[in-house]
Amino acid sequence: ALTTTFLGHQVSNPFLNAAGVLCRTPEDLLQLASSVSGSMITKSCTVEPREGNPEPRYAAAPYGSINSMGLPNLGFEFYKQFAVEHRGKLLFISVSGMSMDENVKMAKDLLPVAKETGCIMELNLSCPNVPGKPQVGYDFTTMREYLQRVSSVYDAPFGVKLPPYFDIAHFDQAAAIFNEIPQVAFLTCVNSLGNGLVIDVDTETVAIKPKDGFGGLGGRYILPTALANVNAFYRRCPTKLVVGCGGVYSANEAFQHILAGASLVQVGTALHEEGPQIFQRVVDEFALLMRAKGYNTIDDFKGKLKTL
Ligand code: DHB
Repeated sequence: ALTTTFLGHQVSNPFLNAAGVLCRTPEDLLQLASSVSGSMITKSCTVEPREGNPEPRYAAAPYGSINSMGLPNLGFEFYKQFAVEHRGKLLFISVSGMSMDENVKMAKDLLPVAKETGCIMELNLSCPNVPGKPQVGYDFTTMREYLQRVSSVYDAPFGVKLPPYFDIAHFDQAAAIFNEIPQVAFLTCVNSLGNGLVIDVDTETVAIKPKDGFGGLGGRYILPTALANVNAFYRRCPTKLVVGCGGVYSANEAFQHILAGASLVQVGTALHEEGPQIFQRVVDEFALLMRAKGYNTIDDFKGKLKTL
């Protein structure tokens, strides 16, 4: 009953990890591959491998998490090779170059692999954690240029990972850009809520080391923002799919994302806290919730959020 299709690929359920969580190393990726998740995504990669920022760079917080990882990753070739060798569930490859040219280069290189294996690129325009690099997703002129350049070398469907937006005019302007580019097949809403600050009163200290403690928020802090972004782009981009990410701990939040228009649902902070067994729990809960509501398929309620 939880089976659904995404860009022509059948998945056993709509759940996967959020890029960045449990998906950097071969061991991480094998754990995801053998979990109950319907699909999976790799850590955002750069052309060259990166160590990332100094630790501690992730911390649990009262209502979620804060992180400033700094793009630690094994480099594009590793994730591309993983895609070549991978069998089984649908695989997304998250690409987050340090420049336009890096993104264009990785997209060009990934295209034949995507065509042969069915893996799908998620282009990350929203990493908030590299000092000195503004988020492309918050600069609409630059974002349009990135998408034009990448789509000129990548003639297959791909997705874009977006930061949260907070202004209706920004939803309108961003959506208009995505609607110009046919290869942009889906939008993943949202990346972490950038540059929060978590403080411990006992020690009078920040929670993570990089950037004086500033980092991206995930988890319960961000659910309403994530839902607003999913629904805003679902309404504005009728030819695109939306992938929901933000604040999912159980079937309840996942159901809200799908009602708002999400086709798939990513789990970040809660996966980091609970481990890959979370997929079995959420799938079981979701089947019970659908049954209690009398729904047989995801399409029975996807995007069918009611307004007053
Ligand atoms: C990192 C964080 C992000 O939110 C992202 O989209 C990519 C990378 C990081 O700090 O590693």
